[in-house]
Amino acid sequence: MKRNHLIYLKMIELLKDGAFNRSSGYHTFVFSSLSLKEVQSRYVVLRDFIEQNHNLIFFTDKRSPKVKSIIKNNRTECLFYDRIEKIQLRIRTKSFILRDNKEIKKYWDKVPLISRKPYSTKLAPSSTLDSVNIGNQEAFLSNENVFSNFCVVENYIREVDFLSLISDSHKRLKIIIENNQIKIKELIP
Ligand SMILES: Cc1cc2nc3c(=O)[nH]c(=O)nc-3n(C[C@H](O)[C@H](O)[C@H](O)COP(=O)(O)O)c2cc1C
Repeated sequence: MKRNHLIYLKMIELLKDGAFNRSSGYHTFVFSSLSLKEVQSRYVVLRDFIEQNHNLIFFTDKRSPKVKSIIKNNRTECLFYDRIEKIQLRIRTKSFILRDNKEIKKYWDKVPLISRKPYSTKLAPSSTLDSVNIGNQEAFLSNENVFSNFCVVENYIREVDFLSLISDSHKRLKIIIENNQIKIKELIP
C-alpha cells in the first residue's frame, strides 16, 4: 500500500482540484482514443474525479465519434499539464460509458441550461453540413431526447507517468494501479 506516498497524494490533490476548480490547469485535459488504427485526441473538461476508484469523468454527446471509438476499444489515455505546477500527468485509462440512468441524471441535473444546448441539436456532432441537411442546423430535439444524448464517460486509471519539471531536479515516477493496489516506481526523467 503506497497511498501515503507523497507523489501519489500530490497526484490525487491535482486531479481533485482539476475537477472542482475551473482555474486549475488540470480542469481540461487531452483525451486520446483509437479509432481502428488511428489515434484521435481532443480536449475535454474534467467534470469529476472519484478518488476511491480512481475514476476521471468527462461529459460528451453520445453521438460523437469518441463514444464509438471507446466502445470498440476502451484503452485510452488522458494527458494533463499545468504551467504553474509544471507537472505532466500522462494517464493510461480504461474507459466506459456510464449506463446507470440514476447516476447519469445526477450529473445532468448539475449541467446549467445554457450548457445543455449542444446535446439538443437534431444533427449529430461531427456530421457534415451539406445542402440536404443545412436546413436542420438550427433544429432542436425535445427534452427527453436531449437527455438521451448526454453521455458520462468514466475513465479508470491504470497507470500514471508523473513528470515534474520543477527547477533542475526533474522527477519522474510510474504509479501503477491494479485491483485498487498501488505500486510506485522511480524512473529516469
Ligand atoms: C478547452 C476545450 C474543452 C472541451 N471540452 C469538451 C468536453 O468536455 N466534452 C466534449 O465532448 N467535447 C469537448 N471539447 C470539444 C472536443 O475537443 C472535440 O472537438 C469534440 O468533442 C469532438 O470530438 P470527437 O469528434 O473526437 O468525438 C472541448 C474542446 C476544448 C477546446
